[in-house]
Amino acid sequence: MSTPRRPLIAGNWKMNGLRADGESLASDLTDLMKNETDAVFDMVVCPPFTLIAAVADALAGSAIALGAQDCHPAEKGAHTGDVSAAMLADLGCDFVIAGHSERRTNHFESDAAVQAKAAAVQAQGMAAIICIGETEEQRDGAMTFDVVKSQLAGSVPKPSTAANTVIAYEPVWAIGTGRTPSTDEVQEVHALIRTELTAALGAEESAGIRVLYGGSMKPENARDLLALEDVDGGLIGGASLTAENFWAIAQSCV
Ligand code: 13P
Repeated sequence: MSTPRRPLIAGNWKMNGLRADGESLASDLTDLMKNETDAVFDMVVCPPFTLIAAVADALAGSAIALGAQDCHPAEKGAHTGDVSAAMLADLGCDFVIAGHSERRTNHFESDAAVQAKAAAVQAQGMAAIICIGETEEQRDGAMTFDVVKSQLAGSVPKPSTAANTVIAYEPVWAIGTGRTPSTDEVQEVHALIRTELTAALGAEESAGIRVLYGGSMKPENARDLLALEDVDGGLIGGASLTAENFWAIAQSCV
């Protein structure tokens, strides 16, 4: 069955880059995208908060979208150090990552907290990239399917639509380690995610929601991962920090 899903290549820069780095990476990508007259993929970069405005300027007029890595669920108020979804929309963001495992671990974010953030993102007319994925211990304990199901049930707002929701399956043990699940293992989790989305949101919305794979995606393994039936793109950390690697991954969709 052909699907309406266009691959999404998303770069999560994490806590990397000073202004000059962010500007030069964004303008290198802008130049590459300009020459890609018939791109078969969508691309988004998610810089740290400090670089969003500068990267927005560097991406101006480009087909590359802008995203952020987190937000507070409230619209405004006494939340020192936090940033609201409205503030990110105001800077030109179209995507915000919610519930990355580094935030779930380092900031003790629960599924309910992730769901509230994703709902705030959606309420501002942006798409939430909702991250889920098992730890190594959970995989070794054959709990991957249960973990993925319960994270999905708890983290994805209802209703969610194909336009305002992206799911990223990121096995925690694959992030930044150079290790990845086998392509069969990735496909079986993505197929499960699609089944769960269909049950929760209906066949029509589910069919349009992109499910990305993340965790040590690189130019060397991107083609095999992106070719999988239920993989609709990638959420890329380390390899999104150079235009050469990030672009090579995007070219693997072609
Ligand atoms: P790496 O690509 O560095 O493994 O990071 C993946 C990730 O966490 C993207 O959100």
